[in-house]
Amino acid sequence: PLAAHAARLAGVPLRELIQDPQRNESLRQRLGPLLLDLSRQSLDLPALQALGEDLEASGWQAAREAMFSGESINRSEGRPVLHTALRAAGAALPSPAPAEVRRDIEQTLQKVERLVSALHAGEGASCGLPTTVTDVVHIGIGGSDLGPRLAVHALSRYRRPHTRVHFLTNVDGQTVHDLLAGLDPRRTLVIIASKSFNTQETLLNANALRDWIARAYDGNARKLARHFLAVTARPEAARAWGVPESHIYPMWDYVSGRTSLWSAVGLVAALALGMEHFRAMLAGAARMDDHFRSAEWTQNLPVLLALIEHWNRNIKGFPGRAVIAYADLLRDLTPYLQQLEMESLGKQVDQNGQPLAGRSGGVVWGGVGTNAQHAYFQALHQGSDVIPVEFIALVRPAHPLHANHDALLSNVLGQAASLALGRSAAEVQADPERRPEGLAAEALAAQRVLPGNRPSTIILLDELTPQSLGSLIALYEHKVFVLAHWWGLNAYDQWGVEPGKALARQIAAVLDAEATDLEDFDPATRALIQEIQDRREG
Ligand code: F6P
Repeated sequence: PLAAHAARLAGVPLRELIQDPQRNESLRQRLGPLLLDLSRQSLDLPALQALGEDLEASGWQAAREAMFSGESINRSEGRPVLHTALRAAGAALPSPAPAEVRRDIEQTLQKVERLVSALHAGEGASCGLPTTVTDVVHIGIGGSDLGPRLAVHALSRYRRPHTRVHFLTNVDGQTVHDLLAGLDPRRTLVIIASKSFNTQETLLNANALRDWIARAYDGNARKLARHFLAVTARPEAARAWGVPESHIYPMWDYVSGRTSLWSAVGLVAALALGMEHFRAMLAGAARMDDHFRSAEWTQNLPVLLALIEHWNRNIKGFPGRAVIAYADLLRDLTPYLQQLEMESLGKQVDQNGQPLAGRSGGVVWGGVGTNAQHAYFQALHQGSDVIPVEFIALVRPAHPLHANHDALLSNVLGQAASLALGRSAAEVQADPERRPEGLAAEALAAQRVLPGNRPSTIILLDELTPQSLGSLIALYEHKVFVLAHWWGLNAYDQWGVEPGKALARQIAAVLDAEATDLEDFDPATRALIQEIQDRREG
C-alpha cells in the first residue's frame, strides 16, 4: 500500500502538495523550543496515515517500553540499551529503568559534579589532580569523542573561562605533535575516554601524552598519575595503564559509544560548560524522552522523522540525506549524526540473522550552510540523484549581528523553497539571461531549469541552549530507535568495523619488521606493504 501511495503521488509535484494547509500543519510539529517542519516532503496526508498505520502495526510502543525498561534489546551482545536512564533524573515521567542502574548513574553524576566543582574552584588537588590546570585534553574517538565535541563547540557561549579544552581524536601524530607544542605538561589534565580501553588510536595518543608529561617530572609516577582521568567500561585496563582508581569514571555495557555523551564521557563537556549546563542538556534530552514515550505517533517528533525517512529511503529509494546546519556552532552535528545513524542503521540482516526486507540506513553527509550552498548544492538542485536535505537553523542567535543571522535564515528558507519548487521553463523564460553567441536559446534555457520536487526538512531551534541541544540529539536517537525496530535490525552493535581493525593490527605488526612473511595478506595489500617498506627510508 505504501508503494501505491508513492505511485499515486508520482505526478503530484511538491508545488501542489504544499498548497494544502491542513497537510502542512500536520507535518509541522513542535516540542518546546524545537520545531520540526516536514511540509516539504513529497507526501500527502493519506500517505502519511498509511505510513503511521504501518508503523503502528509493528508494535513500536511495546518495543519502546522494552528499551526504556532495560530489556536486552541489543540481542547480538545480550545487553539492554539504557542511554535514556542516563538522563532520567530530568524526566517528568517516572523512569522504568532498573533502580540499581539509576543509582549507579546518579552516583557517577555526583562524582563528575565533585570533580567539576573542585577544578572550577581551583582545588583540583583535593581530587588528586594537579594544583593548576589550564588545559584539558580529551582523548577519544567515535562515540567517545563526537558527542562531547559537539556539545562543547555548540554551547561555546556557556564556556567557563580559564580552562581550555582540546579534543585529540585521530591517530595522526602530526596533530598530537602540534597540540603538545602549545601546552604546559605540568598544567595539562588528560581525560582518556574509551569504553573498551582498547582502541588503537586512543591508546597511542594517551601513550604519547603520558610520555610527554612523564618527561616533565623525570618519570615520577605519582606526579604523572595526577594528570590522567579515564572514562571506561574496563576499569582494570585503565588501572593497568596507570590511571589511579579514584580517577576512573564508569561506562556501562548498556550504553553504546554513540549514545554515551550523557554518561561520564560528557565529563569534558561538564568541565567546559559547567555542571548546571551539562544537567540542563540532560534535562533537554529527558524532555524528548518523555515526549517520545507519551505522544501519539501523529504528533511524535522522532516518529514523524522516522516515517519520513522510511518513505524516502525505502519507498522512494533515495540514497541518503544531506544534513546542513545553518550555524557554525553546529559544525560537529553532521559527523555526530554520521556515527549515530550509520553505525546504528548500516546493517544487512535482522536480529535473527535474516536478510533485511528493505534498505537499511542511507548515507548521511553534509556540513554547514551557507558554505555548503557554494560547494555542493548545485548537485542537490540539478544532479541526477535526489538527495533529501535536512536544514537545521536557529531562530535567535547568541550574538548581535542580526543582518548576518537574517542572511542565514533567509538562505535556509530560500534553498528549501528552491529545492521544492524548482524553476520551470516558463519561469526561466520570464527571467532571461545573457546568451553567449552561438548557443541556442533552448539550450541555455534547459540548463537553467530546476526540476524541483526535491524534499527537505527544516528543524528550527528557538535558540541554541543546553536544553534545545539535548532535545535535538535525543530526537535523532529516538528516530534511529524507531527505524531499527521497524526494519528489524539491531541499532546497538557494530560488527562491521571489527575485521578492518584486526587487519590493521596485523599490518602494523609487519610494517616495521625487517624480514617479514606477507603471505597472510591479499596481493593488493601485500604490494602496498612492500611499497611502504621500500620507500619509507627515502
Ligand atoms: O570502531 C567503532 C567503535 O567501537 C565505536 O562504536 C566507538 O564509539 C568507537 O569505536 C570508540 O570505542 P571506544 O570507546 O571503546 O574507544
